[in-house]
Amino acid sequence: MGIQITPSVLNADLSRLADEVARIPSADWVHVDVMDGHFVPNLTLGLPVVEALARHSELPLDCHLMIEDPDRWAPAYAEAGAGSVTFHLEAAAAPVKLARDLRAQGARASMALRPATPVEAAAHVLGELDMLLVMTVEPGFGGQKFLDLCLPKIRRARELVSAQGLELWLQVDGGISAETVERCAEAGADVFVAGSAVYSADDPDAVVGELRRLAEKSA
Ligand code: DX5
Ligand code: ZN
Repeated sequence: MGIQITPSVLNADLSRLADEVARIPSADWVHVDVMDGHFVPNLTLGLPVVEALARHSELPLDCHLMIEDPDRWAPAYAEAGAGSVTFHLEAAAAPVKLARDLRAQGARASMALRPATPVEAAAHVLGELDMLLVMTVEPGFGGQKFLDLCLPKIRRARELVSAQGLELWLQVDGGISAETVERCAEAGADVFVAGSAVYSADDPDAVVGELRRLAEKSA
Protein backbone atom coordinates (compact mmCIF):
# COMPACT_ATOMS: atom_id res chain seq x y z
CA MET A 1 0.00 0.00 0.00
CA GLY A 2 2.88 2.36 0.72
CA ILE A 3 2.85 5.49 2.85
CA GLN A 4 -0.50 6.94 3.95
CA ILE A 5 -1.25 10.23 5.67
CA THR A 6 -4.31 10.53 7.89
CA PRO A 7 -4.78 13.99 9.42
CA SER A 8 -6.61 14.19 12.74
CA VAL A 9 -9.40 16.76 12.93
CA LEU A 10 -9.09 16.99 16.72
CA ASN A 11 -7.36 20.36 16.43
CA ALA A 12 -9.41 21.55 13.45
CA ASP A 13 -12.40 23.90 13.78
CA LEU A 14 -14.96 21.38 15.04
CA SER A 15 -17.86 23.69 14.25
CA ARG A 16 -17.00 23.29 10.54
CA LEU A 17 -15.94 19.68 10.39
CA ALA A 18 -16.89 18.90 6.78
CA ASP A 19 -15.21 22.11 5.54
CA GLU A 20 -12.08 21.25 7.48
CA VAL A 21 -11.93 17.82 5.85
CA ALA A 22 -12.32 19.48 2.43
CA ARG A 23 -9.06 21.37 3.13
CA ILE A 24 -6.99 18.14 3.00
CA PRO A 25 -7.94 16.62 -0.38
CA SER A 26 -4.62 14.81 -0.86
CA ALA A 27 -4.92 12.89 2.45
CA ASP A 28 -5.66 9.17 2.36
CA TRP A 29 -8.01 9.12 5.35
CA VAL A 30 -9.38 11.48 7.96
CA HIS A 31 -8.59 10.46 11.54
CA VAL A 32 -11.45 11.01 13.99
CA ASP A 33 -10.57 10.88 17.70
CA VAL A 34 -13.44 9.61 19.84
CA MET A 35 -12.81 10.12 23.58
CA ASP A 36 -15.26 9.23 26.32
CA GLY A 37 -13.92 11.05 29.38
CA HIS A 38 -13.22 7.67 31.06
CA PHE A 39 -10.57 5.78 29.08
CA VAL A 40 -8.88 9.16 28.62
CA PRO A 41 -9.43 12.38 30.59
CA ASN A 42 -11.03 14.21 27.67
CA LEU A 43 -14.37 14.14 25.89
CA THR A 44 -14.68 14.81 22.17
CA LEU A 45 -17.40 13.50 19.87
CA GLY A 46 -19.29 10.30 19.27
CA LEU A 47 -21.47 8.29 16.97
CA PRO A 48 -23.94 10.96 15.75
CA VAL A 49 -21.08 13.21 14.63
CA VAL A 50 -19.27 10.33 12.95
CA GLU A 51 -22.48 9.35 11.12
CA ALA A 52 -22.93 12.92 9.90
CA LEU A 53 -19.30 13.28 8.84
CA ALA A 54 -19.38 9.94 6.98
CA ARG A 55 -22.18 11.38 4.84
CA HIS A 56 -20.26 14.58 4.03
CA SER A 57 -16.60 13.51 3.79
CA GLU A 58 -14.94 12.68 0.49
CA LEU A 59 -12.26 10.81 2.46
CA PRO A 60 -12.80 7.54 4.28
CA LEU A 61 -12.97 7.84 8.08
CA ASP A 62 -10.32 6.32 10.35
CA CYS A 63 -12.02 6.28 13.77
CA HIS A 64 -9.73 6.04 16.79
CA LEU A 65 -11.84 5.02 19.77
CA MET A 66 -10.31 6.02 23.09
CA ILE A 67 -13.24 4.62 25.02
CA GLU A 68 -14.12 2.06 27.67
CA ASP A 69 -16.01 -1.05 26.59
CA PRO A 70 -15.20 -0.96 22.85
CA ASP A 71 -16.58 -4.53 22.65
CA ARG A 72 -20.00 -2.96 23.04
CA TRP A 73 -19.62 0.34 21.18
CA ALA A 74 -17.05 -0.06 18.38
CA PRO A 75 -19.09 -2.07 15.82
CA ALA A 76 -21.60 0.80 15.60
CA TYR A 77 -18.84 3.04 14.21
CA ALA A 78 -18.26 0.51 11.43
CA GLU A 79 -21.98 0.42 10.79
CA ALA A 80 -22.01 4.23 10.71
CA GLY A 81 -19.68 4.12 7.72
CA ALA A 82 -16.15 4.33 9.15
CA GLY A 83 -13.71 2.61 6.81
CA SER A 84 -11.37 1.74 9.65
CA VAL A 85 -12.14 1.39 13.35
CA THR A 86 -9.40 1.32 16.00
CA PHE A 87 -10.03 0.11 19.55
CA HIS A 88 -7.53 0.03 22.41
CA LEU A 89 -6.19 -3.32 23.58
CA GLU A 90 -6.17 -1.98 27.14
CA ALA A 91 -9.93 -1.42 27.03
CA ALA A 92 -11.10 -4.50 25.11
CA ALA A 93 -12.41 -7.56 26.93
CA ALA A 94 -12.29 -9.84 23.85
CA PRO A 95 -10.05 -8.26 21.18
CA VAL A 96 -10.16 -11.19 18.74
CA LYS A 97 -13.95 -11.29 18.76
CA LEU A 98 -14.12 -7.52 18.44
CA ALA A 99 -11.77 -7.47 15.43
CA ARG A 100 -13.95 -10.11 13.77
CA ASP A 101 -17.10 -8.12 14.55
CA LEU A 102 -15.59 -5.01 12.92
CA ARG A 103 -14.62 -6.89 9.79
CA ALA A 104 -18.07 -8.48 9.65
CA GLN A 105 -19.50 -4.93 9.57
CA GLY A 106 -17.28 -4.19 6.55
CA ALA A 107 -14.63 -2.04 8.26
CA ARG A 108 -10.91 -2.52 8.56
CA ALA A 109 -10.13 -3.75 12.08
CA SER A 110 -7.40 -1.94 13.95
CA MET A 111 -6.01 -2.10 17.48
CA ALA A 112 -4.09 0.56 19.42
CA LEU A 113 -1.46 0.34 22.15
CA ARG A 114 -0.78 3.04 24.74
CA PRO A 115 2.92 3.94 25.11
CA ALA A 116 3.36 1.69 28.18
CA THR A 117 1.77 -1.40 26.59
CA PRO A 118 4.41 -3.74 25.11
CA VAL A 119 3.89 -4.93 21.52
CA GLU A 120 4.22 -8.51 22.73
CA ALA A 121 0.78 -8.09 24.33
CA ALA A 122 -0.64 -7.67 20.83
CA ALA A 123 1.20 -10.57 19.20
CA HIS A 124 -1.63 -13.09 19.49
CA VAL A 125 -4.15 -10.68 17.93
CA LEU A 126 -2.13 -9.44 14.93
CA GLY A 127 -3.49 -12.10 12.57
CA GLU A 128 -7.01 -10.73 13.12
CA LEU A 129 -6.11 -7.13 12.34
CA ASP A 130 -5.74 -4.85 9.32
CA MET A 131 -3.74 -2.23 11.24
CA LEU A 132 -1.84 -1.83 14.50
CA LEU A 133 -1.62 1.66 16.04
CA VAL A 134 1.44 2.36 18.16
CA MET A 135 0.64 5.54 20.12
CA THR A 136 3.55 7.95 20.23
CA VAL A 137 1.98 10.13 22.97
CA GLU A 138 -0.29 9.29 25.92
CA PRO A 139 -3.75 9.36 24.30
CA GLY A 140 -6.14 12.14 25.29
CA PHE A 141 -4.98 15.40 23.77
CA GLY A 142 -3.59 16.83 20.55
CA GLY A 143 -0.46 18.94 20.44
CA GLN A 144 1.71 16.82 22.76
CA LYS A 145 5.40 16.13 22.33
CA PHE A 146 6.42 12.96 20.47
CA LEU A 147 7.77 10.24 22.81
CA ASP A 148 11.10 8.99 21.45
CA LEU A 149 10.89 5.93 23.68
CA CYS A 150 8.23 4.59 21.27
CA LEU A 151 10.67 4.23 18.37
CA PRO A 152 12.09 0.83 19.43
CA LYS A 153 8.50 -0.30 19.87
CA ILE A 154 7.62 0.62 16.28
CA ARG A 155 10.64 -1.33 15.13
CA ARG A 156 9.65 -4.32 17.25
CA ALA A 157 6.08 -4.17 15.96
CA ARG A 158 7.33 -4.22 12.37
CA GLU A 159 9.51 -7.24 13.16
CA LEU A 160 6.60 -9.12 14.74
CA VAL A 161 4.35 -8.36 11.76
CA SER A 162 7.02 -9.55 9.29
CA ALA A 163 7.83 -12.64 11.36
CA GLN A 164 4.17 -13.65 11.19
CA GLY A 165 4.13 -13.01 7.43
CA LEU A 166 1.32 -10.47 7.79
CA GLU A 167 0.42 -7.51 5.61
CA LEU A 168 -1.05 -5.24 8.25
CA TRP A 169 -0.48 -1.52 8.29
CA LEU A 170 1.48 0.05 11.15
CA GLN A 171 0.12 3.43 12.24
CA VAL A 172 1.70 6.04 14.50
CA ASP A 173 -0.29 8.79 16.23
CA GLY A 174 0.84 11.65 18.45
CA GLY A 175 3.41 14.38 17.91
CA ILE A 176 3.92 13.49 14.24
CA SER A 177 5.41 16.41 12.29
CA ALA A 178 8.15 17.15 9.77
CA GLU A 179 10.57 16.74 12.72
CA THR A 180 9.48 13.22 13.71
CA VAL A 181 7.90 11.55 10.68
CA GLU A 182 11.17 10.34 9.15
CA ARG A 183 12.28 8.50 12.30
CA CYS A 184 8.92 6.72 12.44
CA ALA A 185 9.04 5.74 8.77
CA GLU A 186 12.58 4.51 9.17
CA ALA A 187 11.44 2.38 12.15
CA GLY A 188 8.74 0.75 10.00
CA ALA A 189 5.55 2.82 10.34
CA ASP A 190 3.55 3.34 7.15
CA VAL A 191 0.38 5.18 8.25
CA PHE A 192 0.88 8.60 9.85
CA VAL A 193 -1.65 10.54 11.90
CA ALA A 194 -0.92 14.24 12.29
CA GLY A 195 -3.23 16.69 14.01
CA SER A 196 -1.71 19.98 15.10
CA ALA A 197 1.08 19.84 12.49
CA VAL A 198 -1.55 19.80 9.73
CA TYR A 199 -4.28 22.05 11.13
CA SER A 200 -2.06 24.74 12.61
CA ALA A 201 -0.76 25.45 9.09
CA ASP A 202 -2.28 28.02 6.72
CA ASP A 203 -2.23 25.37 4.00
CA PRO A 204 -2.97 22.02 5.67
CA ASP A 205 -2.85 20.08 2.41
CA ALA A 206 0.71 21.30 1.76
CA VAL A 207 1.71 19.77 5.12
CA VAL A 208 0.10 16.48 4.08
CA GLY A 209 2.27 16.52 0.96
CA GLU A 210 5.40 17.39 2.91
CA LEU A 211 4.85 14.61 5.47
CA ARG A 212 4.27 12.14 2.67
CA ARG A 213 7.46 13.19 0.87
CA LEU A 214 9.55 12.88 4.06
CA ALA A 215 8.06 9.52 5.01
CA GLU A 216 8.52 8.08 1.53
CA LYS A 217 12.14 9.20 1.55
CA SER A 218 12.82 7.37 4.83
CA ALA A 219 10.67 4.26 4.39
C1 DX5 B 1 -4.28 11.91 20.80
C2 DX5 B 1 -5.01 11.62 19.52
C3 DX5 B 1 -4.29 12.07 18.32
C4 DX5 B 1 -4.10 13.56 18.23
C5 DX5 B 1 -2.87 13.82 17.43
O1 DX5 B 1 -4.87 11.24 21.84
O2 DX5 B 1 -5.23 10.22 19.40
O3 DX5 B 1 -4.90 11.57 17.15
O4 DX5 B 1 -5.16 14.22 17.62
O5 DX5 B 1 -2.60 15.17 17.50
P1 DX5 B 1 -1.10 15.70 17.31
O6 DX5 B 1 -0.68 15.34 15.93
O7 DX5 B 1 -1.25 17.16 17.53
O8 DX5 B 1 -0.27 15.04 18.37
ZN1 ZN C 1 -5.83 9.49 17.41
